[in-house]
Amino acid sequence: MEIPLADDADINEGESKEVDFAGRPAILFRLNGEVHAYINCCTHVGGPMKLKVKPDTAYLDCAWHDSHFDAETGQALREPAPLDSKLIKLPIQVKEGKVFYVYP
Ligand code: FES
Repeated sequence: MEIPLADDADINEGESKEVDFAGRPAILFRLNGEVHAYINCCTHVGGPMKLKVKPDTAYLDCAWHDSHFDAETGQALREPAPLDSKLIKLPIQVKEGKVFYVYP
């Protein structure tokens, strides 16, 4: 199964973009040239996140209570999200200029 999420050209390095994923919010961003995608739902109580890029790190920051998640793994880094929780990472593939969710 494949679901188109966005045009590859619309995903800028170091910036996040929210897109629709089958009726749920997903967040896409490009880091070091690679596109990443997660369901945009914090593991605390479901808040939305944005990508933050600092000189030595990149993380997803929840707008509601400031939990942080590793941008490449989705692992929670800062409470109140449970530190043993992870964001749901979407498997994706970029082809023909589009980013697709691909269910293996
Ligand atoms: S909902 Fe994300 S920190 Fe509370």
